[in-house]
Amino acid sequence: MFEALFASPGLAPRLEALRAAPRRWLVTGAAGFIGSNLVEALLRLDQQVIGLDNFATGHQRNLDELLAAVGPERAGGFRLVTGDIRDRATCAAVCAEADVVLHQAALGSVPRSLADPLTSHDVNVTGFLNMLDAARTAGVPRFVYAASSSTYGDEPNLPKREERTGNPLSPYAVTKLADEIYAAVYARSYGYKATGLRYFNVFGPRQDPHGAYAAVIPRWLDALLTGAPVTINGDGETSRDFCFVANAVQANLLAALGPDEVQGEVFNVAVGDRTSLNRLFALLKEGLAEHGRQLAVEPVYGDFRAGDVRHSEADIAKARNLLGYQPTHDIAAGLGEAMPWYLQQRAGPSD
Ligand SMILES: NC(=O)c1ccc[n+]([C@@H]2O[C@H](COP(=O)([O-])OP(=O)(O)OC[C@H]3O[C@@H](n4cnc5c(N)ncnc54)[C@H](O)[C@@H]3O)[C@@H](O)[C@H]2O)c1
Repeated sequence: MFEALFASPGLAPRLEALRAAPRRWLVTGAAGFIGSNLVEALLRLDQQVIGLDNFATGHQRNLDELLAAVGPERAGGFRLVTGDIRDRATCAAVCAEADVVLHQAALGSVPRSLADPLTSHDVNVTGFLNMLDAARTAGVPRFVYAASSSTYGDEPNLPKREERTGNPLSPYAVTKLADEIYAAVYARSYGYKATGLRYFNVFGPRQDPHGAYAAVIPRWLDALLTGAPVTINGDGETSRDFCFVANAVQANLLAALGPDEVQGEVFNVAVGDRTSLNRLFALLKEGLAEHGRQLAVEPVYGDFRAGDVRHSEADIAKARNLLGYQPTHDIAAGLGEAMPWYLQQRAGPSD
């Protein structure tokens, strides 16, 4: 995955200079799914990386895995700070040492935010503002943050374009919209430009398959591999623009390394393609069959899930045009790359 990522046409020309003059990167949510993939990419590019995480949903095993993957020499470029973005002093301390912030820490999941909206707000809005303000105060030159496709809410048009958003459909969506509003106000009020990446259903290695709020791909694969039933919420024709994590990493690097003119913008990060849940189920079974796991199971259909949007597909023209973003993996290629990891998870111990 990293070979294709580093060879992507928008990114490749910038990497020699980056390797020659490494920067100090702060990745919040470093022990999580996307954060740990960002840390791995940065270490492979010989960068200095501080990871901040409170392990609310992240895992030490993610850090162990990536540090082992990059080898001891590059692992030396990493330092973990165990701390909480709700704590202002922690945010100030880590920002004091950074040239670039990649802010990923948040409580994901629409159902989680419906069950406990106050904690989602504290982490996703107050924690975000703590980080944004700490970075501004410390004069960190670049701030890139994880926004979300949930911001499109009830906007019916497809594909989703950055400037056309609707009403949020969940507390989680409100938190991510509030982050964008704060970022826009910080740009106008203080001239501090934070760049938002609206991720669409990201998947790949190290995405947690366990727990009530697990994302659909790792949850279904885990169920298929353990013989548990797979439940589809609704009729299965709900669709998503599933985005392999290498594409999300690419967007972060392009935004962080891009020119001043693109800072402060918001970009869709996806593939620009839509896959129904029924089709996804078939793709997962095909992927497992390629690894010798032929399964004759069929999904169980349940109720539609509260707060879910029916269809989601990104227009990625803005990221393509302004950042030089070019996804290296569509859903099939991403699943192909990630499948050995999913299989290995099931083969080994789980905690
Ligand atoms: N995965 C997706 O499909 C997707 C889609 C849209 C947006 N996002 C956003 O991308 C970001 C990363 O998501 P992910 O899928 O990697 O989730 P994740 O849960 O794997 O990672 C989030 C990390 O943030 C950490 N964290 C949570 N609260 C914290 C706090 N108070 N202080 C410090 N660290 C804290 C967690 O421990 C975890 O390691 C989040 O902001 C999420 O909202 C993800």
